[in-house]
Formats: sequence, C-alpha cells, structure tokens
Amino acid sequence: MKFFIDTANIDEIKQAHRLGILSGVTTNPSLVAKEGIKFEDRIEEICKLVPDVESVSAEVTPDITKSEEMIKQAEELIKINGGDKKITIKLPMTMDGLETCRYLTKKGVKTNVTLIFTVNQALLAARAGATYVSPFLGRLDDISEDGVLLVEKIAELFLIHNLDTQIIAASVRHPDHVTRVALAGANIATIPYKVIEQLTQHPLTDQGIDKFAADWAKVGK
Ligand code: E4P
Repeated sequence: MKFFIDTANIDEIKQAHRLGILSGVTTNPSLVAKEGIKFEDRIEEICKLVPDVESVSAEVTPDITKSEEMIKQAEELIKINGGDKKITIKLPMTMDGLETCRYLTKKGVKTNVTLIFTVNQALLAARAGATYVSPFLGRLDDISEDGVLLVEKIAELFLIHNLDTQIIAASVRHPDHVTRVALAGANIATIPYKVIEQLTQHPLTDQGIDKFAADWAKVGK
C-alpha cells in the first residue's frame, strides 16, 4: 500500500516528503480554506515541492455542481505548473461528477472520485474511468458504520471484475485504520501528517532509545 498525505499545508508536505514515503498529495476545499491561500497557487506550490510523486489531487470547487462547469474548471486546473501530469482532478460522487470523470478520462486526465460511501458508488466511478476512488472510512465510523469493511468490499469487487481503478482509503483518523486498510486491500491510504507521526511511534521504541543512551553514558562514550 502506498502513502499519500492529506493536507494543503506546505510544511507538513515538506516534512513527509523528506521521509521518502510519499506517493501523492490529496487536498480538499476544507483543507485549502484552512490555509487561507489562493487554491490554484497552493496546487502549483505543492506540485513543485513534490516533483517525484504520482498524483496531486485538486478538487473542483463546491460552488459548481454542473458537469459543464466542472469540465471548464478542470481544464484550467490541469494547466497548473505548465500542465503537470500529476494533477488529478478530484470530483464529487454525483451524476455530474461521473459525467465529468468520463469526459476527463477520455482526454487522458487523471481523476479521483471522492466522497464514496458505498460499494455501488465505487463501482460506478470505476466504470466511468476513475483513476482513483476515495472511500471515506472515518466519516462512516463516525455514524457507527464500518469504514474498513467498505474498503475491503470495494477491493474484493475490483478484483472480481478486473477493474484497475485504485482505492485511496481516505478520512483516515489513526494508525489502526492504516494497518486495517492495508490488509483490506487498499492501494493507497491518504493520511494526515499527525497520523504519519503516530505511525513512527511506540513507547518501547522511546524506552529502548533511552536505555541505549543511559548504558552508553555509563561507559563514558
Ligand atoms: C480525502 O481525500 C479527504 O480529503 C479526507 O481524507 C477527508 O478526511 P476527513 O473526513 O477527516 O475530513
């Protein structure tokens, strides 16, 4: 399973990129709004910062809902950073979103159909040619449903029907989500910076480092 980072924050992206684990970046209107910067400028900055990743998601803005408008916006977004091929148009799971997905796929543009909460939605998006689908597991857990189970079922279905759309497990809230979606067959997990940090940590690792340091200090080296 690959790792994307789920943020529009430059410092977080820089830091995660230094670890050598990043395959992509996802943003959404809420994450960009938090940064208080022009959306297109931030996407360009991110593309320049992580030239070696496979995907940088740029979501069509929530003020547009019709396919023709989404296409118009997407055609501007894919020009960013000199027509950077990493730019992946993130589209909502709606009829208009699917129509846009089909159109962009035919033009060779990468797409990420987001806000997936059922297996049927994932199947439709895959059939519309989506490069990626993003099931939101944390938000399902929030309403007492099983987010990881959804990822598992989508992975099974894509395998049965030989669909090459990649599953991005999204709305990841903690390290256990990461382990479980990896085992459930997600191709990618997009995770907040805080969770990347948590993945590196264990109390026994800290204790071990302290013990090595104390023992080393005893012999005066
Ligand atoms: C993914 O593409 C979304 O940006 C994100 O994972 C949503 O996460 P949240 O439910 O924690 O807002």
